[in-house]
Amino acid sequence: MNYSETTDMSVMRARENVRALEKKLGRVPTAAVITFGCQMNARDSEKLTGILMQAGFSVISEESADFVIYNTCTVRDNANQRVYGRLGVCGGYKKKNPYMKIALCGCMMQEPSVIEKIKTSYRFVDLIFGTHNLYKFPEYLADTLEQDRQIIDVWKEPGEIEENLPVSRKYPFKSGVNIMFGCNNFCTYCIVPYVRGRERSREPKEILRECERLAADGVSEVMLLGQNVNSYGRGLSESVSFPELLREVEKIEGIKRIRFMTSHPKDLSDELIETIKNSDKICRHIHLPLQSGSSRILKAMNRCYDKEKYLSLAMKIREEIPDISITTDIIIGFPGETPADVDETIDVIRRVQYDNAFTFIYSKRTGTPAASMENQVSEKESHEQFDRVLTEVQKYAKLQSARFEGRVMEALVEEVNENDTALVTGRLSNNLIVHFPGDASLIGSYVKVRLNECKGFYYLGEKTY
Ligand code: 5AD
Ligand code: SF4
Repeated sequence: MNYSETTDMSVMRARENVRALEKKLGRVPTAAVITFGCQMNARDSEKLTGILMQAGFSVISEESADFVIYNTCTVRDNANQRVYGRLGVCGGYKKKNPYMKIALCGCMMQEPSVIEKIKTSYRFVDLIFGTHNLYKFPEYLADTLEQDRQIIDVWKEPGEIEENLPVSRKYPFKSGVNIMFGCNNFCTYCIVPYVRGRERSREPKEILRECERLAADGVSEVMLLGQNVNSYGRGLSESVSFPELLREVEKIEGIKRIRFMTSHPKDLSDELIETIKNSDKICRHIHLPLQSGSSRILKAMNRCYDKEKYLSLAMKIREEIPDISITTDIIIGFPGETPADVDETIDVIRRVQYDNAFTFIYSKRTGTPAASMENQVSEKESHEQFDRVLTEVQKYAKLQSARFEGRVMEALVEEVNENDTALVTGRLSNNLIVHFPGDASLIGSYVKVRLNECKGFYYLGEKTY
């Protein structure tokens, strides 16, 4: 579906409302988009920001803005708690600013219990919508600015895939590109399939068109986004595999780096490994969530691979593409997990020697199969095991980061270093960060940097000529 006439009309209506508000306030109204969660949410927030800017808001980062929208995550309970905490603070601002409007959207809003809680305990929230109708934000925005009632519109099922919504990118030189939405895997701990719906792939021609437009607009690095990019293409009229899509994106002049997230190990093909290996644009980084190294727990998680299959895949990737960084996600404290299961996870960490790993304590999500499993692990036990895993993860992450010391590698300069403005911060193809002397004029350019000193998880370096 394309950015439709109704959407256009809504943006115009919102713009009139913003203008009226400007008269009342005697200044340009401000808006803030506060993002929780994953890269998908970050990308959605760029769309929300684009719409707010088109409506005439000046977009800032403070929650004291005249319009504040929280784009929420519900993958773990602590993300939910943080949203409630922020809402409390924001409600305080609203008491002082009678024109202020507060909106909520994203994954957490797909949960009926959350909506009930907001209706009763957070009456000051003006607008709530979910993950399936983000493209209707212009309409909701216009309505919210006109009306003084709580507007709630959450859909159970996905709407259409929206194309060409206005977007305001955080970085001018790099961008996320959604290639698919939703997830069909139903890992037993995970709420994503319930809040993001079934898997839908975007048409390749739409993806390529978006990448071409981005390239024309100065973007040189794209990150292809999906919950499970390896199953891209299922259900499309002409079947296209993920490696085929990658090879098409590669042909676009101006695109110098291609990243993707996330790769489910069960669907990662030899064709993908070959495609990465033969490409000088696809970055040397693969995020390959393990979740657990115990085959018994993997089965209970419905991950569709066992320890041996995962290990042989990871080893194959290391062998074929030696320079690649492999990162992962690990969950500790899944129902029934014993210290012996955690030993299996640690064994995988030692063998794969991850370049980095995100470790999470299992969080019970209502409605998922794991939530009603017996033998939930106590918090104390989970924390003990978590510490054991973290120690191993950090040991290998440090070793792996250091393996590039002394080499000259290309970095894409992303920003001036926050702590020392004489330095800039660049990202290597393998996702490592390097700080080196330079100034803002380098932002967005590719620079050859000598990696002088590894400081654990980042490098200090210098520009080479
Ligand atoms: N508890 C803890 N971690 C979870 N993740 C997903 N669901 C849960 C949960 N219920 C983690 C997985 C996934 C990452 C994005 O979040 O490791 O890969
Ligand atoms: Fe959740 Fe599993 Fe889908 Fe990832 S693949 S989003 S962990 S259900």
